[in-house]
Amino acid sequence: MLNNIVLIGFMGCGKTTIGRKVANLYESILIDTDSIIETNHNMSVAEFFSSFGEKKFRKYEAYVCNWIKENVNNAVIATGGGTPIHYDLRDIGNVFYLKAPLNVLIERVTLDGISKRPMFDEFKSIVNLYDKRVKYYEKMADYTINAMENINIISQKICDYMKGY
Ligand code: S3P
Repeated sequence: MLNNIVLIGFMGCGKTTIGRKVANLYESILIDTDSIIETNHNMSVAEFFSSFGEKKFRKYEAYVCNWIKENVNNAVIATGGGTPIHYDLRDIGNVFYLKAPLNVLIERVTLDGISKRPMFDEFKSIVNLYDKRVKYYEKMADYTINAMENINIISQKICDYMKGY
């Protein structure tokens, strides 16, 4: 099995921020699947969605995950909030679900800018999306982490799990 640390969770749970910290602690490298898509297409995720649509985004997301599966080990992988819905990330490494309550996630995404997140629509559809997604996150997670804790504590916990403590 691959020894990557794979971070999953809803938009705003801190996958990239925590991933950066974990990569430092774990003396590794952060690979962010959204950033790879943005770099390789020279456009933001929001632009990708409006130019090509969600279906093509998911296809490319799966392509990136397959590439990681074939080529990457001992890295930290920050996924998109929708990746676990269509891709079994346990094939890539140890899956950590960063769990946070929806009201906090909404607040964080709103502060960061809703326009960056094409899946972030009106409030009612976000509640539905969250309810659906949580089931996938819980099913796929090897470990569930309380994303409301301090980032240093979260990152240390993830590294400790990896070391088998
Ligand atoms: C998505 C989440 C986004 C990004 C895209 C789709 C989703 O990533 O992949 O906008 O379907 O939840 P973040 O979870 O990093 O915001």
